[in-house]
Amino acid sequence: KVVVLDFGAQYGQLIARRVRDLGVFSAIVPCDVTADELSAMNPSAIILSGGPASVYAEDAPKIDPGVLELGIPVLGFCYGQQIMAVTLGGSVGHTEKGEYGPAVIVRQGESALYGNTPAEQTVWMSHRDAVNRVPEGFVITAATDVCPVASMECADRKLFATQFHPEVRHSEYGNQLLSNFLFNICGLEATWTMDSIIEDSVAAIREQVGSDRVILGLSGGVDSSVVAALCARAIGKQLTCVFVNHGLLRKNEPEEVEEVFTKQFDVDFVHVHAEERYLKLLEGVCDPEAKRKIIGTQFWNEFFAVAKELEQDGRPVKFLAQGTIYPDIIESGARKTGGKASTIKSHHNLIPFPEGVHFDLIEPLDHFFKDEVRALGTALGLPDHIVHRQPFPGPGLAIRIIGAVDAEKLEILKNADAIVREELDAYNQKLFEETGERNSEHACWQYFAVLPDIKSVGVMGDERTYARPVILRAVESSDAMTADWAKLPYDVLAKVSGRIVAEVPGANRVCYDITSKPPATIEWE
Ligand code: XMP
Repeated sequence: KVVVLDFGAQYGQLIARRVRDLGVFSAIVPCDVTADELSAMNPSAIILSGGPASVYAEDAPKIDPGVLELGIPVLGFCYGQQIMAVTLGGSVGHTEKGEYGPAVIVRQGESALYGNTPAEQTVWMSHRDAVNRVPEGFVITAATDVCPVASMECADRKLFATQFHPEVRHSEYGNQLLSNFLFNICGLEATWTMDSIIEDSVAAIREQVGSDRVILGLSGGVDSSVVAALCARAIGKQLTCVFVNHGLLRKNEPEEVEEVFTKQFDVDFVHVHAEERYLKLLEGVCDPEAKRKIIGTQFWNEFFAVAKELEQDGRPVKFLAQGTIYPDIIESGARKTGGKASTIKSHHNLIPFPEGVHFDLIEPLDHFFKDEVRALGTALGLPDHIVHRQPFPGPGLAIRIIGAVDAEKLEILKNADAIVREELDAYNQKLFEETGERNSEHACWQYFAVLPDIKSVGVMGDERTYARPVILRAVESSDAMTADWAKLPYDVLAKVSGRIVAEVPGANRVCYDITSKPPATIEWE
């Protein structure tokens, strides 16, 4: 495997993704990992990421010099090149103007990293500092007008570095360089494939679980569904999926989830009908945070009640499976891979078990990025409507009904939301057919209906109506951190509006939310 040392929040993630795309497993660790810790992980290659700091800044991240002496090939990018240079006795200075964006490098001499790529190539630069003296034993392998050391290496010690970012798509031969490093220099093989991933995951689950029993809280979301499908393949009937139906799911969703997991996968499936209990608990509750809290707490009440009931037959439930994914682990700073738990932020999926309750955790997705999880889901036979499901908040429709939740409002929202999804699914599908990309520039990333706590006057036929407006929310985004309101064509908007007013009893008006995030959030509560 390849270990990426991350010198700045998130810089390592893209590199790890590129390495994995080439068929080699890669893990990310914080840059302050020691040479001993790294050596214990037994990597075949080490990559030093870029980072936002300046190497001579007081709090600049350092590297354990031993990392460069392990005899394991190292490749550094940007800050990674600078820290390599400074650590080994070279130096770094300010360039006159810095380089941001595309730049043309001119190669110098032979280099296994470049292989037979062209003598001049476009790369992606983003730096102000640059190496101005290479360490002893190193040679310069490329330069630009601004940057005398666009790349350097000491082939004997298998140390390579570039000032530019080969992991960015705009670097014309970036992928080729990475592949030269992995396969030609490090001698790795592309064995990280979907089949091998499934095989390894299944074996690991079997080994961890033995003959014990596992329980899983299934929400119908991508992550928990993929865990269920994976565990189903690994341990079949030793797994019980508990689907707590709080009645706040979208139209037809409970039926679709049940259908998939009872017909297609051989697991025990418990459908907890908690709709009435939730409605009662939420009666008159208007505060968004209070709603979230009630819903979350009740989820665990329902879930633990099922676990207890299952254990009535005398066989304890030892494990709880959950869909923690790799970015959760990286964010939490938990160094699973290195064995040292340095925690920046506590693991957000960790459940505070109630008194007297304890499960060991199974987290089979804790090595995967979201799109790998989706690919895994598809390979395991999950249908598209689960694999490509849009994000949906745990508290469900309760936070899309402004003010108190009741059965009547839920019915209106579910029906209106179903129309929104149907029409915008069709719009996205059309874009997909035109562009060949699922999340193309104007595709809607998340789209749903919101029900505000007001009524307005309308006229239908010759009758006055006094009914609810429905708000359409549709955004373009890639990670939900920021979002743009979707510039939907008028005919799409007209169709959604026409259908909602005509088909949803209790709705007589449609408004479109044209606010981006920030300053708004995607959800209304
Ligand atoms: P906001 O509204 O903060 O939402 O812009 C960002 C993304 O997170 C989703 N979301 C949630 N997801 N539990 C979840 O699992 C929640 O409580 C929750 N609240 C918001 C939201 O749908 C959007 O994709």
